[in-house]
Amino acid sequence: MALTSELGKQIKLKEVEGTLLQSATVDNWSQIQSFEAKPDDLLICTYPKAGTTWIQEIVDMIEQNGDVEKCQRAIIQHRHPFIEWARPPQPSARNAKDCMVSYYHFQRMNHMLPDPGTWEEYFETFINGKVVWGSWFDHVKGWWEMKDRHQILFLFYEDIKRDPKHEIRKVMQFMGKNLDETVLDKIVQETSFEKMKENPMTNRSTVSKSIMDQSISSFMRKGTVGDWKNHFTVAQNERFDEIYRKKMEGTSINFCMEL
Ligand code: A3P
Repeated sequence: MALTSELGKQIKLKEVEGTLLQSATVDNWSQIQSFEAKPDDLLICTYPKAGTTWIQEIVDMIEQNGDVEKCQRAIIQHRHPFIEWARPPQPSARNAKDCMVSYYHFQRMNHMLPDPGTWEEYFETFINGKVVWGSWFDHVKGWWEMKDRHQILFLFYEDIKRDPKHEIRKVMQFMGKNLDETVLDKIVQETSFEKMKENPMTNRSTVSKSIMDQSISSFMRKGTVGDWKNHFTVAQNERFDEIYRKKMEGTSINFCMEL
């Protein structure tokens, strides 16, 4: 499949097992498939725009402040749970409506991804799973179903937003570390949206404008729960809720839609 970006550039996407991926990813798929994690590796398995950068920063800070002798490698990926992992993965999910909004703005500014078109067009693309890394529903449902069978810490963006210290402590315990309260407080501060928006290591300001044009939309855009309300029409919301009910039928997962 080839889609035209805003620059008129052809963005080539390919499919692996029905999931759309950037062609560079597919071209290296055999290497990705044969990747072997080390026993101590921590896999961060997010759907795009669910707070990957945030979790990574939290994990990095816990690592930096922990026992230097026992450093873990954190590996980020958006991959579907179609692979049985031998090592503990840490999936993080964000409610589908905010994910859709965040992904839409990300595709507007990221010239390596297809132009999303209008919000109305993107709504269709997203609910049909025709975005890079595939359907939000399959991803979230898949990891949720796997969480009790493996050593998995399942985090919610909304929970971290509501009570960052509580969730950061969970990550710390999962990583087998023990940090002082003052260190935890420092991590809460340093990983706040405001701090990360100013930090060149996390705000992607070092990425060329030809790849990410932050004059269109910032990488660290809003960092809130419930921005979907500023985008979804009443009709779209009703339709989405109906689709959600059908696709997520039978799962016990519950998302917080506003704080
Ligand atoms: P918005 O576009 O809604 O602002 P990812 O890292 O997976 O690409 O996710 C990006 C989303 O996470 C963006 O959402 C970004 O603003 C948000 N985010 C990143 N760091 C955050 C933080 N410290 N606190 C809250 N949200 C954060």
